[in-house]
Amino acid sequence: ASQTLQDTLLSAIRTIPDYPKPGILFRDITTLLGNARAFRRAVDELVHPYAGAKVDKVAGIEARGFILGGAIAHQLSSGFVPIRKKGKLPHDTVRVAYSLEYGIDEMEMHKDAVTPGEKVILVDDLIATGGTAEGAVKLLTQMGADIVAACFVIDLPDLGGRAKLEALGVDVHTLIAFE
Ligand code: PRP
Ligand code: ADE
Repeated sequence: ASQTLQDTLLSAIRTIPDYPKPGILFRDITTLLGNARAFRRAVDELVHPYAGAKVDKVAGIEARGFILGGAIAHQLSSGFVPIRKKGKLPHDTVRVAYSLEYGIDEMEMHKDAVTPGEKVILVDDLIATGGTAEGAVKLLTQMGADIVAACFVIDLPDLGGRAKLEALGVDVHTLIAFE
């Protein structure tokens, strides 16, 4: 019998307790990325709703959103926009401070990475509190992007990130949830 999407992804994701801080159950996708079948399946499922849609750019959040976002951009024949931790991008940037499940940081995007009205899909591996994705939405919106959707392999619904993004009017697409 063919494995369901849920089984394929759940069995390919590894959970590390107390990383990077005590009390955090870290959902590690490196095992999914190393599994050819699971990686392809995840990318195909994330792309599926947008096949045939006009998507100008995929914006990926450093670091794990780069891996998935690059593959998704290739499949959609879209450009790719890196949203990076502060200090890493060489040209003029917009910057935002944000908080996440286990810390605070700042991230940036090049000012010329999107032009007003461009259709953009935001990609990351996981949404927890939604602080990171909310920061990325602020950067994209500030530069006039039209955010088609935000996509994640993993949702941690108890942390409220999906609800936070939906309250901002962003369509959210996720593949599996961990309670
Ligand atoms: C992780 C994950 C998301 C973010 C989600 O990234 O890849 O970007 O946390 O958390 P939130 O919904 O509570 O904001 P992390 O900051 O650990 O960076 P990394 O990808 O560089 O390891
Ligand atoms: N980012 C925020 N919370 C996380 C978690 N529990 N596992 C992996 N990445 C995360």
